[in-house]
Amino acid sequence: QFVDIKANGPSSIGSDLCLHGFSHVYGLPEHADGLQLRDTRDGEPYRLYNLDVFAYDLYSRLGLYGSVPLLVAHKPDRTLGVFWLNSSETFVNYGSLTEYGYNVLKRRRVEPQTDVHWLSESGVIDCVVLLGPSPQQLFTQYAQLTGYQALPPLFALGYHQCRWNYDDEADVKAVDAGFDRHGIPYDVIWLDIEHTDGKRYFTWDAALFPEPAGLQRHLEEKKRKLVVISDPHIKVDPDWSLYCEARDGRHFVKNRQGQIYQGSCWPGESSYLDFSSSDTRAWYSRCFGLDKYKGSTPSLFVWNDMNEPSVFDGPEQTMPKDAVHYGGWEHRELHNLYGFYQHMATVEGLITRSGGLERPFVLSRSFFAGSQRLGAIWTGDNVASWEYLRISIPMLLSLSVAGIAFCGADVGGFVQDPEPELLVRWYQAGALQPFFRGHSAKETKRREPWLFGEEVTAVIRTVIQQRYCLLPYWYTVFHQAHTSGLPPLRPLWVEFPREQSTFTVDNQYMIGGALLACPVTEAGVQEVRVLIPESGEVWYDVHSAKAYNGGKTLSLPVTLDTVSVCLDSHSNGYFMSKYIMEETFIFIGVFSVLVSHCQTYPHIAVE
Ligand code: GLC
Repeated sequence: QFVDIKANGPSSIGSDLCLHGFSHVYGLPEHADGLQLRDTRDGEPYRLYNLDVFAYDLYSRLGLYGSVPLLVAHKPDRTLGVFWLNSSETFVNYGSLTEYGYNVLKRRRVEPQTDVHWLSESGVIDCVVLLGPSPQQLFTQYAQLTGYQALPPLFALGYHQCRWNYDDEADVKAVDAGFDRHGIPYDVIWLDIEHTDGKRYFTWDAALFPEPAGLQRHLEEKKRKLVVISDPHIKVDPDWSLYCEARDGRHFVKNRQGQIYQGSCWPGESSYLDFSSSDTRAWYSRCFGLDKYKGSTPSLFVWNDMNEPSVFDGPEQTMPKDAVHYGGWEHRELHNLYGFYQHMATVEGLITRSGGLERPFVLSRSFFAGSQRLGAIWTGDNVASWEYLRISIPMLLSLSVAGIAFCGADVGGFVQDPEPELLVRWYQAGALQPFFRGHSAKETKRREPWLFGEEVTAVIRTVIQQRYCLLPYWYTVFHQAHTSGLPPLRPLWVEFPREQSTFTVDNQYMIGGALLACPVTEAGVQEVRVLIPESGEVWYDVHSAKAYNGGKTLSLPVTLDTVSVCLDSHSNGYFMSKYIMEETFIFIGVFSVLVSHCQTYPHIAVE
């Protein structure tokens, strides 16, 4: 049982807004749900409260790992945003009158209307209405307010191979060699918590990883990178210099009695760094210095996990709201910002490490409005099932609409073992999503792409190769996000704002302005139905180059009699291109500019 003592008394703030003429509403990540928000009058409100939820329930409005309090409403002639800047626990109720109707009493036609009610536990009302009117303008307005997507280093848009855990240096080298042996391109291999000495981040298990710098140089010879995990909890260990430094430097969150707060996480009894303090952030950033982080080299990048923060023995598995941060602020005030601040300090550390010359890459599980300025986000502990594959698409679209453009879901599903058909389909879907990483939990069977027979290997090889063929396009659309705020992954209505038929679609989407993706997310399907918007538009199947007129739904066959038919290039979901020839010329032109800048001044954004 947990008691929440409200030192400053109970409080809440709220506000009601009525959005006239709107009946389609999106945003408010993170929830494992469809793209369009659902009327909450029949149930729970949407909750924004960052929590560690292992194998989370689908279609739930409870909080997940991160929060962005941005709601986006759309109708044919206007896109509108409501941004509620508050980092305490927040609830959003929403009800919509969807149809044009006739009000008998008033004897007139009534417009559709959306009522939104915001309620936060503490803080002040700081609410901004973004007026669009186009989706593009809305994204730019929101980016001006909270920041533009950081331009990822090119390698970060390639394929990432992760597992909890790659056991030791020999294992890492064997997996790395496996990619070469099977002709599968990849850029980054990841190490989870077991690489450390007893879950003490910034250290290495001396028996398993005796030569970490040598391992990084081995990878770097092929221009490959290593990512290691660094969580916000620090093992309580008075014999560990990093713990002592943090304790003596007053870098830990306190409990309400003023002592260092302790909770349990991977290392056992732990204390939690107070990233809300700029001093603590600066200290943490310095921990990534090459001189300080023994065994690290410039090709090591970072993964921040468990930063909701996750506290195994805390209320709802997080930190008590009455814990106290720097300046006397209660945790309740800034809960949803905790992970954002760790992400910020890590990014700062990597930028400083390179003397400001290299763009950083940092993945974080928790996030808040503005996390797009820092790097990538993933959707946490999903499950190896078709439903979780399906939900990954609207989840990533919701994140994209809310500015978190560099996002992905664990390919294959983190928990449990995917059957080969699911694994293949997940690779095909993941290759068409911004952050593309295979990851799996400790108890699962190994699932490197070549472990399921030659046919499966071949189809995964093809799909990863296709990702690499499109890398210049991805880099270009990320540059666009970086300069205009327009996300690479776009719901169809963003590109076709006047087409009502697109407003509810969330199983297919646009990548940039040219490519339409519709991944296959069901077992054993024989055909896929794809909406190709806009009559008068010509669409081309990128594989067959066959042309189709837009403004209809196509039924396209998917061959599935045997696994080998899945290997057919068509099976990566139907992937259509609008004006593919023109766009190809445009993106090749932009790409050559980007590459030349990238090589000379990796940190400079190309205007
Ligand atoms: C959490 C993360 C998962 C990671 C594991 C061990 O469950 O979400 O990705 O592998 O912790 O660090």
